[in-house]
Amino acid sequence: MAKFVLEVNKLTKKYGERAAVDNVSFEIIEGEIFGLIGPNGAGKTTIIKMITGLATPTNGEIYIDGISLKKHFEKAISRLGGIIENPDLYSYMTGMENLKFFASLYPNITQEKIDSVVKLVGMEKRINDRVRNYSLGMKQRVGIAQALLHDPKILILDEPTNGLDPNGIRDMRKFLIGLSRKKHISILVSSHILSEMEQLCDTVAIIDGGKILQIKTLEQIKRGLQEGQKVCIKVDYPNYAGKLVILKYKIPVSLAGKTIMFNMEDSKIPEVTTMLMKEGISIYGINTITKTLEEVFTEMLEQQHNKGQIR
Ligand SMILES: Nc1ncnc2c1ncn2[C@@H]1O[C@H](COP(=O)(O)OP(=O)(O)O)[C@@H](O)[C@H]1O
Ligand SMILES: [Mg+2]
Repeated sequence: MAKFVLEVNKLTKKYGERAAVDNVSFEIIEGEIFGLIGPNGAGKTTIIKMITGLATPTNGEIYIDGISLKKHFEKAISRLGGIIENPDLYSYMTGMENLKFFASLYPNITQEKIDSVVKLVGMEKRINDRVRNYSLGMKQRVGIAQALLHDPKILILDEPTNGLDPNGIRDMRKFLIGLSRKKHISILVSSHILSEMEQLCDTVAIIDGGKILQIKTLEQIKRGLQEGQKVCIKVDYPNYAGKLVILKYKIPVSLAGKTIMFNMEDSKIPEVTTMLMKEGISIYGINTITKTLEEVFTEMLEQQHNKGQIR
């Protein structure tokens, strides 16, 4: 059985009467990049703070590498590395001085280990410059190097692309994917920008109002988008063509002018067009309309709000 690197079970955090995080459960396996995605105020940082020991859950359990955070705090926390909101670096020191300082807080971290994490984050050339002269992206990298010093099983990053420019975001994405593939390290990452997560994560949990609305793998999401795709075919005899599609595929077809429209995935389109042409229909154009992930996500949040389940 796959062992979970992180297991969160029915986690709740209340501030007064209000639940900032409400009965949240998910698991992360080795090497998986798992995204918490949701608008501002959704509860992402609060979840991450509980996992990293910066906030105490009102209810629920957290296991890091199978170890209960509540029962064996130090042992459990030693298996994770995290950056919450911003990397905690001293700006008057160099990147290397920062890493040496943090290394000194742990037993047995060698200079070789420090050099290896510097290399891993691609900061060899600039590591002896002062942090105050770093770009935000460089600070993030040194922060991640620091979080990796003690060989954690899971790296936790709260909105790591916040404030980065498009190039910085792309570099960060490539770096994190490389890290998970090369080092088999699991990564928990949060963001309020869906398109970033879409390209980074293996699995995403969509969260709003402190609740998880859905957990899906990227494969499931992409398949769902394909299935929801609308195919539009412009023909000479739309009524007849529409009937043919209805009879053959048992799916609803709508008409608009000379165009017939129905839901269908790409792989079946050639079969449909061949069938229509064999029946003597002329085809003047084909188009597909796919919802973007952003649209699906927005619709999902709107539906939840309309149901009154949130706030
Ligand atoms: N220390 C706190 N005291 C009271 N309310 C808080 C505290 N921290 C967060 N909250 C509330 O919890 C909710 C979730 O916040 P947060 O976890 O920061 O969301 P996100 O990171 O997704 O933007 C928000 O409504 C926020 O105002
Ligand atoms: Mg946050």
